Amino acid sequence: MPLGPFSYPNSPVHYRRLKRLYPKIVRGEGVWLYDETGRPYLDGCGGAYVANLGHGNHAIAEAMAAQARRFGYINGTQFTSDAAEDLAQALTALSPNLDKAYFVANGGDAVEAALKFARQYWAEAGRPEKTKMLALDPSYHGNTLLALSAGARASSKKLFHDWVVDFPRVPAPYPYRSTGPDDPALTAEAFERAVLKAGPDTIAAFIAEPVGGSSTGASVPPPNYWKRIRSLCDRYQILLIADEVLSGAGRTGTWTALEAYGVTPDLLTLGKGISGGYAPLAAFLAPRRLVDVVARGSGSAQHNQTFSHHPVTCAAGLAALNIMRDQRLVERCARMGTYLHSKLERLREHPLVGDVRGKGLLAGIEFVADKGTKKPLPRSLKFAEAFADAAFDRGLVVWPNYGNVDGETGDLAMLAPPFIVTEKELDEMVLRFEDALNTVAKTVVVKRH
Ligand SMILES: Cc1ncc(COP(=O)(O)O)c(C=O)c1O
Repeated sequence: MPLGPFSYPNSPVHYRRLKRLYPKIVRGEGVWLYDETGRPYLDGCGGAYVANLGHGNHAIAEAMAAQARRFGYINGTQFTSDAAEDLAQALTALSPNLDKAYFVANGGDAVEAALKFARQYWAEAGRPEKTKMLALDPSYHGNTLLALSAGARASSKKLFHDWVVDFPRVPAPYPYRSTGPDDPALTAEAFERAVLKAGPDTIAAFIAEPVGGSSTGASVPPPNYWKRIRSLCDRYQILLIADEVLSGAGRTGTWTALEAYGVTPDLLTLGKGISGGYAPLAAFLAPRRLVDVVARGSGSAQHNQTFSHHPVTCAAGLAALNIMRDQRLVERCARMGTYLHSKLERLREHPLVGDVRGKGLLAGIEFVADKGTKKPLPRSLKFAEAFADAAFDRGLVVWPNYGNVDGETGDLAMLAPPFIVTEKELDEMVLRFEDALNTVAKTVVVKRH
């Protein structure tokens, strides 16, 4: 058990990790965080793909403070605010064919709200039999029970197996682990098979991450994939929900990952980076043609939360969007992403690195035991976690993930730095990454013998 004031059980905080010692962060600046001893940490993943604008942004802090000074809370059933109106205006202007934005506090809430809305839409449109939701495997959509159900991560669901509901599965487009370009998972044939098996008349929606997040380690589907999915969704009258909580807000070098495929979803979820992490803000966007049906029917979306449409969080989102627009940060993300991926290429030579992939400032590095067979490392090694700890020891924060191969095995490290990162900082990130990898790799070799 770790010792120190900021560890369990020495502090009254119920920490997310009960077996580690927490450095206390006292200041952030750009891509750097500083703890109370003055030690710097290079934030290689924006916490959890969140701090897109970097730390210590005073303009966002001022916008939130100004809103809180005028008023803090109003209830979304009784009043509206400039912050909610202006943010909705800005977000819908960025999203062709999506005219209405519903604000919540977490990505999982946005996913739940979108799924519930899809079912409600069909019920109120006179098709109450359309209730099933299709989802990818692997996938991740959040941790509240419906969002957990939508995700395929078996290890997170195990304990709650009798509380989660079944989502018919579609194999995720995962080029590295496919059989080649004709793999049904890459051609969308597997999607159509799943639709026909479940019965198109019973399906309300298909929810998917347009570019993989942690679940498939930044896997990028082939160029035609989403157009095919879009046309199949249209043919079978299935709503396409793009979960861009992670890949949206510019992370892959375009405002949404799906727009790079020339495709518009029916519902879009955003979260994480839309406020740059300065406030817990997420949203789901819908077109008027769908919302009109509910407006003419029951009159409100059935996802009620006290903190939805919160003025202070919306003010943070609006300030973040204005900064991204004024400083052209999404374009910068695309440019810096190209640089990062060019630097990460050399990791392919490492014996434990099976693949390096991603888009924009989203990168996934997949570790394997055998590069030829792509055999994953034994889960008992907890390689992803050991790697993240070694990186942390070197002052680099990365996001580890596991389970990408079969729900249990498969090890990934993810990088997703703030968009304001410089080339020099990316160089430093890759150096620390390699150093951590070489150290942890030695322990694998030792254990093999
Ligand atoms: C694609 C995706 N959807 C939804 C969520 C859930 O977001 P939150 O953790 O804010 O509830 C996540 C979180 O990682 C995610 O990556």
